[in-house]
Amino acid sequence: MDPAGEPSNYEVELPVVSPDEHSNSSLKKDASFISDLPSDSRPVIFKVWICAYVAAMSGLCFGFDIGGSGGTFAMTHFREHFGWPEVPAGEDPPSWVSDQQGWIAVFFSLGALAGSLPAGMLADFIGRKFHLIISAVIFSGGCLLQILASNMDMLWSGRFIGGVGIGMMSTVTGMYIGEISPTRTRGIMNTFFQINIVAGILTAGLSNLGLKHWKHGWRISYGGNIVFSILVAIGMIFLPESPRWCVLKGKTEKARDCLSQVRYEDEVERELAFIQQDVRLAKEAGSGSWVEVFGSRHKQGYRTATGMIIFFFQQLTGINAIMFFAPDMIKTFSGDDAALWGTFGIQFMNFIATFITVYLIDKVGRLPLLLSGAWGQAISLFCVSLCSMPFSDYENKSWIGNLIVVFCALFVGCFAYSWGPLAWVIIAEIQPNQLRAKAMSLSSATHWGFAAVVGKVTPYAYRKNALQLWGTFLVFATFCMLSSLWVHCCLPETADVPLEKLDDLFDNFTPGFKQANPFKKKPKVAKDETPA
Ligand code: BGC
Repeated sequence: MDPAGEPSNYEVELPVVSPDEHSNSSLKKDASFISDLPSDSRPVIFKVWICAYVAAMSGLCFGFDIGGSGGTFAMTHFREHFGWPEVPAGEDPPSWVSDQQGWIAVFFSLGALAGSLPAGMLADFIGRKFHLIISAVIFSGGCLLQILASNMDMLWSGRFIGGVGIGMMSTVTGMYIGEISPTRTRGIMNTFFQINIVAGILTAGLSNLGLKHWKHGWRISYGGNIVFSILVAIGMIFLPESPRWCVLKGKTEKARDCLSQVRYEDEVERELAFIQQDVRLAKEAGSGSWVEVFGSRHKQGYRTATGMIIFFFQQLTGINAIMFFAPDMIKTFSGDDAALWGTFGIQFMNFIATFITVYLIDKVGRLPLLLSGAWGQAISLFCVSLCSMPFSDYENKSWIGNLIVVFCALFVGCFAYSWGPLAWVIIAEIQPNQLRAKAMSLSSATHWGFAAVVGKVTPYAYRKNALQLWGTFLVFATFCMLSSLWVHCCLPETADVPLEKLDDLFDNFTPGFKQANPFKKKPKVAKDETPA
């Protein structure tokens, strides 16, 4: 059902069944009604919002780190503490400084890569709730090390440990939210994660403006997000486990108890029966092994690759080059203060534009958002590249410097309503239940792997003796163009497609240039027709 209450293109009318009817054998064989329950017009129980929000606070931890750490490069006290020499505007720092900057970004991403790979399996083993608690505790440990860092090794270790925590959290947050929320609010609740990422980035950017004046302010820029991780750890203790995980583990009573905390009384038995049926069908469909993750059944290998490629392109748009290194880049032509304010402007744009997705995600579909976002990103980055070409003399003409910041903000705005949130939404929704945890771990690991590559390469790339700013942004602009081509040819539209129709969608999907114009409104199809 779309937000206006109209049945969506692929909506299937689901029979309302009692638990007894539910075990009826003819219904049992019919997978088409299993994954989603009939729509309910009652508001969802308030506790579900709390569950989704507390889990999504992991996004605050993640965002605060992205928005806070890079800003320290434009803080005198931080540079003094680590012995970085002061360089006049327009000049490159010694290469060992670029090296240390790179590792500050990379250790976090490498830790996240290490945390995300086993996260899916661990969450299947110990449960979503305990997984989130443990990862929040690990993250807090990393924050503490960064707050107390007396030397670079300590800072790097803290970043690696914090990264492990965030890698684990980022893989399982979406899983927990998806499994605890009712179908009618699943989409919006899943956007909480990205909203919190951008809110965390903005909070960090804002606090950096004040923290730069304090000798130890940089410590908060690195580890201040310990507040959020402690809230996640404590909050999750009081929240229910995912009912689907309980059923998966054969803990029916516990599943009933968890459901009764987040559903109306009359919904509990019915939903429990649905979940049991769904889990049974999923088990019949396969054992959920790693071999199946790359198998050809229902184009599973293609789906796994899609979840990884989407993050490859998301990271190679250059978003984290800007998120992380904007203060340092802007500092090279306009000084510390302007760098932190310019970065804050970019972060503000990131925050505002994210709400466009919340409004449009179910209205216009995934492909138009991703395509227009990719083009907008490419055009903005081409403009950044043009403005920062040597002939523009941007280091001495402040208006050109300001223009660069404006185009960076436009780029981030385009990213924030498209590739930012949608990548996280799509990696979850294209995977079948029984393989979701493993496939999402791989997607998430790809995110962190390429975040590490971008983090390591960028601080060398934009120096004068390498690609410089213009060359660096030209490379990212090219990847944005390529990403639009990939979406156009290789990604099927998943908006409005119920989970149980996704296998059909992929079975009937052939990648290639001939894909219909995604901006054209799709004709309505009959309710039980399979989308082509
Ligand atoms: C990406 C992050 C990025 C953030 C910026 C997220 O969707 O996964 O890598 O830093 O958006 O808002």
